[in-house]
Amino acid sequence: MIDEIYTNENIAPEHEPERQFFFIKKMQEIVFAKEQEYRRKLTYHISTFGCQMNFKDSEKLAGVLEEIGFVEVDDEKADFCLYNTCTVRENANSRVYGRLGYLGKLKSRKPDMIIAMCGCMMQEEHVVETIKKSYRFVDIIFGTHNIYKLAELLFTYYVENAEDKKEDSKKSKKKHKMVVDILKGTDRIVEELPSKLKASFKAGINIMFGCNNFCTYCIVPYVRGRERSRKPEDIINEIKDFVSKGVIEVMLLGQNVNSYGKNLDNPISFAELLKQVDEIEGLKRIRFMTSHPKDLSDELIEVMKNSKKVCHHIHLPVQSGSSRLLKKMNRVYTKEDYLKLIDKIRVAIPDIAITTDIIVGFPGETEEDFEETLDVVRYAKYASAFTFIYSKRTGTPAASFPDQVDEATIKERFDRLLKEVNRFSEEYAKSLEGKVMPVLVEERDREVEPDKNYLTGRLDNNLLVHFEGSDDLIGQIIDVKLSECKGFYYIGEKQF
Ligand code: 5AD
Ligand code: SF4
Repeated sequence: MIDEIYTNENIAPEHEPERQFFFIKKMQEIVFAKEQEYRRKLTYHISTFGCQMNFKDSEKLAGVLEEIGFVEVDDEKADFCLYNTCTVRENANSRVYGRLGYLGKLKSRKPDMIIAMCGCMMQEEHVVETIKKSYRFVDIIFGTHNIYKLAELLFTYYVENAEDKKEDSKKSKKKHKMVVDILKGTDRIVEELPSKLKASFKAGINIMFGCNNFCTYCIVPYVRGRERSRKPEDIINEIKDFVSKGVIEVMLLGQNVNSYGKNLDNPISFAELLKQVDEIEGLKRIRFMTSHPKDLSDELIEVMKNSKKVCHHIHLPVQSGSSRLLKKMNRVYTKEDYLKLIDKIRVAIPDIAITTDIIVGFPGETEEDFEETLDVVRYAKYASAFTFIYSKRTGTPAASFPDQVDEATIKERFDRLLKEVNRFSEEYAKSLEGKVMPVLVEERDREVEPDKNYLTGRLDNNLLVHFEGSDDLIGQIIDVKLSECKGFYYIGEKQF
């Protein structure tokens, strides 16, 4: 039946995004009919786990759902509920399984609800098998390589299950067919599908997908595939389009932005791309992440230094300070290389905020290795650092390394690391107290000082400032005095 529809309409899978626009239209008809039946709009909810890439993917998924006619709601009691999952560490997986139990209960009270799962976890065979066996109420499963197919998968689900319902009425037995579509890999990039920005003034922009680095602890290359760069003209056009709609800040996204463009037909460096983005009129701030230290070029430091728009912030994951462990991690730099790079960046851009990722308890980590990490933290004086306990990921080389570190030792080191990291973050934040700095006003502060009805904004270095002001400032860059440092954020005063 499904194959027939596809052939009749004569839109072959290689014709994207046209094929998806066809399915969006088909879904619009279905959703419209349901609206008439229910006498209300159909709702959707997306729960996103993990990194900026996943949040960006969720904006694309939301764009397609809104084009179809769904409206967003804040909680999971929606007609269509989607989990965009992460698997970089085990605890991300556990959280998803925990939430799935709750979704199952919801669905038993609301049988017409559609539950879909996508993202990195779904690229793991054992996860899909577990869902098929133990969470049979899930309706649609897809992976990281085919998020552009959401409309098609939804349509497939509706058609297959509508047919079942006809049979059901004869047999009076309710069946449900799960739609599962996982690609092992792809070199395809589908452009020009709708996307919904979380905020109207800032946007994440994928510049590349996947990763070729195969750090031995990391599952990303297996679940996000090989590195693929978008063409610079597609990136520039997307940003220009966003800017014409009011965006003033972009975050260029890639697992390793510094190797951007190497595999394009007309190769171009990340620094060259950044220069082109810098020239876009109307754009005020540019961020990017993540930078692998092994690929960070002098050319890039020059572009950052000479630009008025590129934020003076660089996220430069070190992972470990021990050259011996860095080798086992396949990071391709030594502690000394990394420290030299930090020096070089600081000489060129003295006010740069450097942030990092650190893993504690990688297999074979000795007290001496860990001390080397603390040494790097003290030298680099990070503005902030994400610290992670090593998590064994099935299928990665490090999972089968001998001498896994025991839990108690890891916990003790993790606490020591956190103390040291926090000491420098506070020192960094304190060093800016009293200064007047530009802030991009993002939203009403609902968490830090909820009673005061403050606004929340972000400095160039990514730190948050909360201050008094009116709603019309949201989406603007204004000067704010950092009157009081509260550890990792500031209470500020708007300047006139
Ligand atoms: N265990 C712990 N942390 C990990 N990361 C990636 N894989 C693992 C793992 N198996 C961390 C790295 C990376 C960040 C996004 O997640 O520090 O930079
Ligand atoms: Fe994972 Fe290493 Fe690629 Fe980062 S660079 S995504 S840590 S494999």
